[in-house]
Amino acid sequence: MILRLSLSLYLVLLLSAAAADSGTMNSKCKTKSKRFEEGWPVLRTGVNRIINQIEEGGGLPNSTLTTHDYMSYYNTVYELCTDRPGGLDNSKLLYHHYKNVFEEYINSTVLPSLRGKKDEVLLRELLRRWANHKIMTSWLTRLFHYLERYDIPRWGFPSLEETSFLSFYNLVYDEMNNQIVEAILSMIDQERAGQQIERTLVNNTLAIYSEIGDGPKKNHAKGFAEKMIKHDAEFYYDAASIWMASSSIKDNTPKEEKMHDSPSISSKKINLISSDGDAFEVDYAVALMSQTIEDVIKTIPGGGDTDSIPLSLNSKSLAKAIEYCEKHTKFASNFDYNERSTSNVDLNDWDAEFVKVDHDTLFDFVLTANYLNIKSLLDLASCKIADMIKGKTPEEIRKTFDIKNDDDIIVEEDQIRNENKWAFG
Ligand SMILES: *[C@@H]1O[C@H](CO)[C@@H](O)[C@H](O)[C@H]1NC(C)=O
Ligand SMILES: *[C@@H]1O[C@H](CO)[C@@H](O)[C@H](O)[C@H]1NC(C)=O
Ligand SMILES: *[C@@H]1O[C@H](CO)[C@@H](O)[C@H](O)[C@H]1NC(C)=O
Repeated sequence: MILRLSLSLYLVLLLSAAAADSGTMNSKCKTKSKRFEEGWPVLRTGVNRIINQIEEGGGLPNSTLTTHDYMSYYNTVYELCTDRPGGLDNSKLLYHHYKNVFEEYINSTVLPSLRGKKDEVLLRELLRRWANHKIMTSWLTRLFHYLERYDIPRWGFPSLEETSFLSFYNLVYDEMNNQIVEAILSMIDQERAGQQIERTLVNNTLAIYSEIGDGPKKNHAKGFAEKMIKHDAEFYYDAASIWMASSSIKDNTPKEEKMHDSPSISSKKINLISSDGDAFEVDYAVALMSQTIEDVIKTIPGGGDTDSIPLSLNSKSLAKAIEYCEKHTKFASNFDYNERSTSNVDLNDWDAEFVKVDHDTLFDFVLTANYLNIKSLLDLASCKIADMIKGKTPEEIRKTFDIKNDDDIIVEEDQIRNENKWAFG
């Protein structure tokens, strides 16, 4: 089998196996590969907790998950996807299970709640279900986020959000579309006849069409618009086409969650806990260089213990990552006048020095950066390794990394090299 992998994914898969074998990464990293059958029940528990909370409250389940819970789900997904040799299969399985969660929920809960309803009652229930579906999606996409780093783009699959929205569209609209259109048209008729109707209900129902993915939306909107024109409902047709033309409402996260921009947050601290139990207190801005940490903070808004985040990284690895993030945050900060004089070239020099380390440390940078999802550090360390192996024969490379000859892997490193030309002088 021939697999095309990006250089960083390739390295991550190689090095995770080596780290797990030698136990260098950390105590939490299993020495045996973690099987899908062990990992999935853990995630399913998290998924069920989210579904239960949404079913009960209908609101954002802010107290459902703690940062510890979130990190244990993140770690499970991470370990499954970086497991070797199973990682690539695991990620496909995970994707299908993710999709199945939505289908199962829609089949067992959403559709039965819509069936038999008509008119306004139907639209109200549809809107409630759609709102819940979006909340569920925003939670699950974060839990399964690792799939979107390498695998989904590589496969050319729809994103996690699109996958979920399409499930809703395919299952709900296939069955209920006629009733929904009837309900809207009947409300429009009522208004024509001089009755008061709840216009927001019509508006919000129409808005669903524009929020659901692009492909089916277009066909759907067309069919819907034709019905509207036939019905002579021009006003609503105009309104509908405006929504359909406008881009979908993708960003469900409230503005105040985008914390980096806020100056008041720059003085705020957060504790990062290593797997050895050491606490590292850092500025928020520094921690937010890690997309993984940003995701935890977004997912658990005001969730009690967000001041400390447990990480599956040993103290040594975590300390180095923090050193890197502190340097880069300081450099990027406009507030720090001392650092402002530092030029880009100086930062590049600093980076070059930072990765002048022995092999094991460099390999550890790749895994740490991948776990924390710090793209610039991942690229930096990957490029350095790419340089080291440049000119070596595949056989020598396999020896260096202790790779068994089991896959025909084509590594696509061109993109990363182009992005980091300076690193190669
Ligand atoms: C979310 O948090 C607020 C404030 O802590 C609380 O009043 C509310 O009940 C919580 N909502 C849910 C669904 O847990
Ligand atoms: C949901 O229902 C559809 C249509 O009946 C079916 O094709 C699909 O397999 C079901 N999915 C799940 C996960 O139950
Ligand atoms: C519904 O949408 C139309 C067209 O955009 C707008 O004029 C109207 O105020 C909206 N009505 C409500 C109740 O939101």
